[in-house]
Amino acid sequence: MNQAIQEQSRMKTTDHPLHSPGLEGVIAGESALCQVDEGAAGLRYRGYAVGDLAEWSSFEEVAYLLLLGRLPTRTEMEEFSAWLIRNRVLPDLVQRFVDDLPPGLHPMDVLRTGISLLGLVDPDGQDGSHAANLRKSMRLLSQVPLLIAGNHRARAGSSSTRGDQSGHVAQHLLLLLAGQKDGETGVAMVQALNVSLILYAEHEFNASTFAARVTASTLADLHGAITTAVATLKGPLHGGANEAVAAMLVEIGSPQRAENWVREALAKKRRVMGFGHRVLRQGDARSAIIQRHAERLSHLCGDNHWYETASIIHRIMQEEKGLHPNLDFYTAVAYLLMGIPRELSTPLFVCSRMTGWCAHVIEQQDHNRLIRPRALYTGPAPRTYVPLDRRA
Ligand SMILES: CC(C)(COP(=O)(O)OP(=O)(O)OC[C@H]1O[C@@H](n2cnc3c(N)ncnc32)[C@H](O)[C@@H]1OP(=O)(O)O)[C@@H](O)C(=O)NCCC(=O)NCCS
Repeated sequence: MNQAIQEQSRMKTTDHPLHSPGLEGVIAGESALCQVDEGAAGLRYRGYAVGDLAEWSSFEEVAYLLLLGRLPTRTEMEEFSAWLIRNRVLPDLVQRFVDDLPPGLHPMDVLRTGISLLGLVDPDGQDGSHAANLRKSMRLLSQVPLLIAGNHRARAGSSSTRGDQSGHVAQHLLLLLAGQKDGETGVAMVQALNVSLILYAEHEFNASTFAARVTASTLADLHGAITTAVATLKGPLHGGANEAVAAMLVEIGSPQRAENWVREALAKKRRVMGFGHRVLRQGDARSAIIQRHAERLSHLCGDNHWYETASIIHRIMQEEKGLHPNLDFYTAVAYLLMGIPRELSTPLFVCSRMTGWCAHVIEQQDHNRLIRPRALYTGPAPRTYVPLDRRA
């Protein structure tokens, strides 16, 4: 603990506390998982530049890195991937929950409840040891895509999917959520999805991760912490932004309407989804990576209208507000081109961020200190209680 933090933790309730609305700029804890690098690398996961990981690795490799602390050897990678594939199965109770869901529910709500339910029947129960937390994390990585796909198929009116026994995570997810995609375009879609999963995997103390760590710091169980995280990710100022970007692009409809639409939104002081970031004020290096994939997909699909619409919004937001796109902006374009239903954009984010969340829960519980900050009191001055029968 550095000196400033020690000073703060010694503060008495009467001292004037340091205060930063929204905890902006506050160092709220220590983590060895992700470094926000102001240089070209953008982010580093356990020391590795996210651009290098996106270029060379698979999502499974990144999951291994985040959960186990180092890159795997080839044998370890094969064993890890095979384990994830073998465990693509939902417990009966959870499968019945998915099969019996009424239509019209938001997939993020289904996911939140489904993950909580998975916690009820997890074989490791309330065991919060490092090894049990790791096993629970790996099971969630295998199970969450099935929860999403089962709900998606129920919404579409077809019978629920129990998963297939082949394919790496990106391939499996694309098949489950958008159907079979063939040829060069299909390969490019799997690559783009793999990259988006890598880019979404971890980002230090973002809102959902911090929420998960707060829950984990009470020594509540891992599924409880992940349920907290899913609930937090849903909001449009956080993970829900990728769905909101897709909704905006659909509403705009064509590149010809984009400029007027965005100027009108800005004139009305509306937030344009997919722009700005609490921490990455100078731009998000991840955005340029997924933008390249979105552009490539739009050529391969012979459908430029999403990408062109997005490019116009991008230009105007930079000119008018000096705001840069964040990761959610071009990811939404890529997902639309893949044919992924827009309400599944944030659940896909869950499939990826699950690795970061679980790694944080494990890290928190391995070196636990209850997270319990202070509030700056803004209520009434002390006053005298008047019993009910004497109150006017
Ligand atoms: C991410 C976000 C919540 C960060 O917000 P923040 O750190 O609280 O930023 P601030 O509210 O201090 O914004 C600073 C200024 O930029 C403006 N701004 C920030 N993001 C904006 C956006 N997406 N569209 C329009 N204006 C935006 C604010 O209105 C504010 O302008 P003002 O000073 O004239 O009032 C914010 O940029 C946002 O709402 N983005 C859209 C949602 C999104 O894409 N979320 C995903 C984040 S990864």
